Amino acid sequence: MDADALRQRELTIAREKLIVALDVPTPRDARALVSDLEDTVVFYKIGLELAYSGGLAFAEELIKDGKQVFLDLKLHDIPATVSRACTQVANSGASFLTVHAYPQTMRAAKIATAGSSLRVLGVTVLTSCDDLDLAEAGYAYGVRDLVARRAAQACEAGIDGLVLSAGEASSIRASIGHKLILVTPGIRPKGSAAADQKRLATPAAAIKAGADYLVVGRPITRAENPREAVASIGAEIAAALSPHQAS
Ligand code: C5P
Repeated sequence: MDADALRQRELTIAREKLIVALDVPTPRDARALVSDLEDTVVFYKIGLELAYSGGLAFAEELIKDGKQVFLDLKLHDIPATVSRACTQVANSGASFLTVHAYPQTMRAAKIATAGSSLRVLGVTVLTSCDDLDLAEAGYAYGVRDLVARRAAQACEAGIDGLVLSAGEASSIRASIGHKLILVTPGIRPKGSAAADQKRLATPAAAIKAGADYLVVGRPITRAENPREAVASIGAEIAAALSPHQAS
């Protein structure tokens, strides 16, 4: 393969690893952003803000247009309710769904989605939290230990993947291998504002830590030129994936 073809292949793989968080108020705003980004993005995340303003119907629209959809609904309830909610989502055509990584919740989600193409991801510890936030919430564990504990419980429950920060991804990858899909939010290209996120990494660092997918919201959605932001993040992912890249 010549250098140009190789570069093109790396950019395609990079594009498949980027999930853009559509954290905007309405489907109309989301539609405008998706139309601006055109074919530069293939995977979108719909979170709580958009889900509560018609985002689930918009998800169907995206799926019909050939996009992949991650419903970041962060479910957590009694098993029967989680199970019934997961059954509904399993029929939606979405690719990923999040539940909080509590053993009961993960087990209920696993049973309800068995045999469907929906992948269930357990949210370990929000990337906006650090050790102090966990202590404040009453946890005896710090971030590192709680993520490791929840990763082991996710494996036992048999769900498909985890949401965690890039800071924990390499040790989790080393302990569980490729059993689970690792998805990392808290991504900030150099120079972008942290806002409410505390466990941050650049796109390159997340790839090198072993992330399968990177979730990026504000560095793209609030950029002056979202297409340029996607291109620059894509190039950074591609460079980090390149076998020729010095580590
Ligand atoms: O704008 P920003 O890049 O910080 O957006 C990150 C997205 O990932 C948000 O939609 C947020 O809800 C989501 N998320 C997160 N941390 C988690 C799970 C999901 O930031 N642990």
